[in-house]
Amino acid sequence: MRKFIALPRIEGRASRQAHCDLPEGTFERELGKEGFFGPATMMYHAHPPTGWTGWEGPLRPRAFDLDKIPSGMASPWKAAPVLSNASLKLRYWRCDRSMDHLVRNADGDELLFLHRGSAELFCDYGHLSLSAGDYLMLPRSTMWRIEVASPVDLLMIECSNGSYTLPEKGLVGQHAIFDPAMLDVPAIDDAFLAQQGEHQTRVVIKRQNRLSTVTYPFNPLDAVGWHGDLVPVRINIRHIRPIMSHRQHLPPSAHTTFLGDRFVVCSFVPRPFETDPGAIKVPFFHNNDDYDEVIFYHAGDFFSRDNIKPGMVTWHPCGFTHGPHPKALTRMYEQTKPGTDEYAVMIDARDPLEMGEGAAATEFEAYAQSWQSPGPVKAPSRKSGS
Ligand SMILES: [Fe+2]
Repeated sequence: MRKFIALPRIEGRASRQAHCDLPEGTFERELGKEGFFGPATMMYHAHPPTGWTGWEGPLRPRAFDLDKIPSGMASPWKAAPVLSNASLKLRYWRCDRSMDHLVRNADGDELLFLHRGSAELFCDYGHLSLSAGDYLMLPRSTMWRIEVASPVDLLMIECSNGSYTLPEKGLVGQHAIFDPAMLDVPAIDDAFLAQQGEHQTRVVIKRQNRLSTVTYPFNPLDAVGWHGDLVPVRINIRHIRPIMSHRQHLPPSAHTTFLGDRFVVCSFVPRPFETDPGAIKVPFFHNNDDYDEVIFYHAGDFFSRDNIKPGMVTWHPCGFTHGPHPKALTRMYEQTKPGTDEYAVMIDARDPLEMGEGAAATEFEAYAQSWQSPGPVKAPSRKSGS
């Protein structure tokens, strides 16, 4: 087990409880290792830590509008990587027609998130109907195809050379966030049996990002039954019940949905705002000093960010301090709404990500400047809060 130099100390004017009861006139920034599970310090600043006036060099936050990627890709293997590293490949597949072949990803488990549309999925294990907001985890080398009911936009998150697992729920127990009994699996139903037959079928296999095609004189999705614990699972993001505290803003890790080998997938879903007068009601400023952070915006009103709409992705690389935009900061202690209204998928990657060709043409260039405010920003007084 790794040993950190863990020695909590307090210097100067500081709160004793993270994210609550900040010293008057200050902004809080969390500096954290290991995705905030390692050593962390809350620092209290006179200015917003994002109050820069210039930004140069290769390190920068980026945003991509994936809706600018053309639709009409008949195979998921046509979708170019948006962001990737050795343990993670993020692609955006926009498909407006049913697949005429099967695919198999031999490079790792695949997590699909259906952003828009609806489709019927057929795979080794049976049939499953997919609708917007569905996560579908397909174990490595599962054969599958979709029949499109209405054009689909799918975020594909490959756990390269690895496997997805569910997070430890720890103190809150196994039924929190979502009950494992909520996970749906494909069924060997009438629709699945009806698509079987002696027709020639191609399977396009991806291995080491190279494609090979195997042709069968019959449909190899011909199972009549199965049993086991290696199985695709589906849960809709609207079935996730967030953990929250009315007295403290919880970190994104409280919303972990799936674990990859060197990354995590979290789901942001609507929840009430904190009501304790001393608790901040917006995400705290932070630098996540070991991770690159990616957020895909699915639906709703993204309360901490301007210029963001559904279908966009933000990428905050390690080394970039970020937090609420100036407009959101004015609501640090007093929200006008009872809660958040956003659905988003967050991916925190332990290793640096690289931008892929699927991202380059869709970049929102002004994103790094989106925190800039017309003048100095003063910390709101928590005494005026609710
Ligand atoms: Fe972040």
